Amino acid sequence: MDSSMDVAVIGAGAMGSGIAQVAAQAGHPVLMMDARPGAAQRAVDAVRTTLGKLAEKGRLTSAEAAEAGARLRAVGSVDDLTGSRLVIEAIVEDLPVKRGLFTELESVVGTDCVMATNTSSLSVTAIAGACAHPERIIGLHFFNPAPLMPLVEVVPGLATAPGLAERCSMWMKQWSKVPVLCKDTPGFIVNRVARPFYGEALRIYEEGLADMATIDHAMRTVGGFRMGPFELMDLIGNDVNFAVTRSVFEAFFFDPRYRPSLTQQRQVESGRLGRKSGRGYYDHSNGSLPPTPKNDPELLDMIYRRILVMLINEAADALYLGIADRDALELAMTKGVNYPKGLLRWADEFGLERCLSALQDLQAEYGEDRYRPSPLLRRMVREGRLFHG
Ligand code: NAI
Repeated sequence: MDSSMDVAVIGAGAMGSGIAQVAAQAGHPVLMMDARPGAAQRAVDAVRTTLGKLAEKGRLTSAEAAEAGARLRAVGSVDDLTGSRLVIEAIVEDLPVKRGLFTELESVVGTDCVMATNTSSLSVTAIAGACAHPERIIGLHFFNPAPLMPLVEVVPGLATAPGLAERCSMWMKQWSKVPVLCKDTPGFIVNRVARPFYGEALRIYEEGLADMATIDHAMRTVGGFRMGPFELMDLIGNDVNFAVTRSVFEAFFFDPRYRPSLTQQRQVESGRLGRKSGRGYYDHSNGSLPPTPKNDPELLDMIYRRILVMLINEAADALYLGIADRDALELAMTKGVNYPKGLLRWADEFGLERCLSALQDLQAEYGEDRYRPSPLLRRMVREGRLFHG
């Protein structure tokens, strides 16, 4: 993509602002538009301030920051986007509203304009469904904060033109991002494969096997994750995390593997949303002390193994169902959510047989479909193969 090509970002919230910053830093003139009066201009000003701070810290030269800032411009309506070659939509997560925007947009932009959605939980195919030309619509799913997180899931819908995903992946590389191709299925890669990190942690807690601090401690110290599940849910926001879990569960026609947790629902109902409300699973008010985890090596290892095998099973199943290829799955989890290593590599190291038998034990113990091993895992064990063999 020629960096002189005009890019537009619609929706000047957290994601739109970050994406606009990335595009401007990659050299594109960027138009920002938002339905709330003044929001686009405020976002442009905020991105310029951020660029200035990056220059102060020496991450950019002051000339680079000023140039990138000067490439951003707020506009008042979709009608101002006629010359855009790539439009990225990051508005409210609401299917009818997104569908309405895309049909409006296609009557305004040129026929060679690519229209992308940053949706995290809706179907790209459904968003494009009301358009006369759905072939130029694609998902480009950035992670929060977009300027810092390298991953972009590139998601062609059912009607997306062949070759558009490759073109978009090339553009994302030019923007210094790590693109991964994935199928238009609920949660794409990351929000699907990561579900057991939260879901199984909640389940272990609900069964009374360990308290939250101990579960977090196990995943940090034995698993090597930067944050444990409960502290991460408190950071993300329990409302946001619960909404993603619910939407994945519903989108999979209520597959019990993705069933949301009552514990988390109660947190949301009581307003214990996490850091942003001062209280979530933990008390985040000033002066509060974090609870002390139990330092029982056997318990910590049990917690780590149970969550890990569920994550591995999810990754193996995504591979089995062709949601993404092996390397995309590994990149997605390491570059999108900072996992210490790819889950399929982790499976090889942990031992596929050990992984399968742990899942079979859980399934036998609980009699629940939640723990059913992926057919691919069974087959790999039968054939004595490794994911990275
Ligand atoms: P946000 O609430 O911070 O910003 C959304 C913006 O869109 C608001 O400024 C709102 O005024 C504007 N807007 C709403 N309807 C509009 C319309 N019809 N036309 C123009 N502007 C409109 O939301 P956020 O978090 O930035 O999310 C935006 C999108 O990105 C959603 O689809 C979300 O699912 C997705 N996403 C969010 C992530 C996150 O961590 N927050 C991560 C990846 C994707």
